[in-house]
Amino acid sequence: MSMTQDDMKRAVAQAAIAHVPNDCIVGVGTGSTANFFIDELARIKHKLQGAVASSEASARRLQGHGIEVISLNDAGTLPVYVDGADEITRHLHMVKGGGGALTREKIVAAASKKFVCVCDASKLVDVLGKFPLPVEVIPMARSYVARELVKLGGQPRLREGFTTDNGNIILDVHGLSIMNPVELETMLNNIAGVVTNGLFARRAADVLLLGSPDGVQTLVV
Ligand code: A5P
Repeated sequence: MSMTQDDMKRAVAQAAIAHVPNDCIVGVGTGSTANFFIDELARIKHKLQGAVASSEASARRLQGHGIEVISLNDAGTLPVYVDGADEITRHLHMVKGGGGALTREKIVAAASKKFVCVCDASKLVDVLGKFPLPVEVIPMARSYVARELVKLGGQPRLREGFTTDNGNIILDVHGLSIMNPVELETMLNNIAGVVTNGLFARRAADVLLLGSPDGVQTLVV
């Protein structure tokens, strides 16, 4: 029987458990791969102090398994953050935010010593940008930020009917071929009204667990 994408996501989620120290507070991402990780965490919950969630959705799933959700302010520095990505390169630079949780994801990742990215093989790319780059924007700045994004060569589209956990909007930027993700991440952060952008390059992943039909590959930079 051939391996489905879900089988690969489950395999990387299982492999990520080895990166979770005993008795710790673990940082938890958002999305379908992170959901498999949450389900795996449930099996070792007696060995956990709790979890910091990067979204309301992940917090609900953790609580549904009886795992204590702790606020980042009470948790301090986390040993490890586990999350998926929409695209990732061999440098472990990522595009994230397909689920709209990019801001909290970036905060929890920043507060963590190690970022373990869990992906199926379809997420590995040579150049970032085919997946539209999510940018979280303060609502009153929508049109100004969109004009600035056009100047940078992108085609921003409003994510219709979507509000982030922080009460903001998302512009998905199409048509970018991102040759220097660290530089672009910084430039986008400097546009007034941008809360966060979905490039995770300044703080890249430390470990990639990549699911393939042959098993889980581990990549580090
Ligand atoms: C959530 O905002 C994103 O950053 C996710 O990490 C991303 O969308 C991955 O989701 P899947 O695991 O469902 O592909």
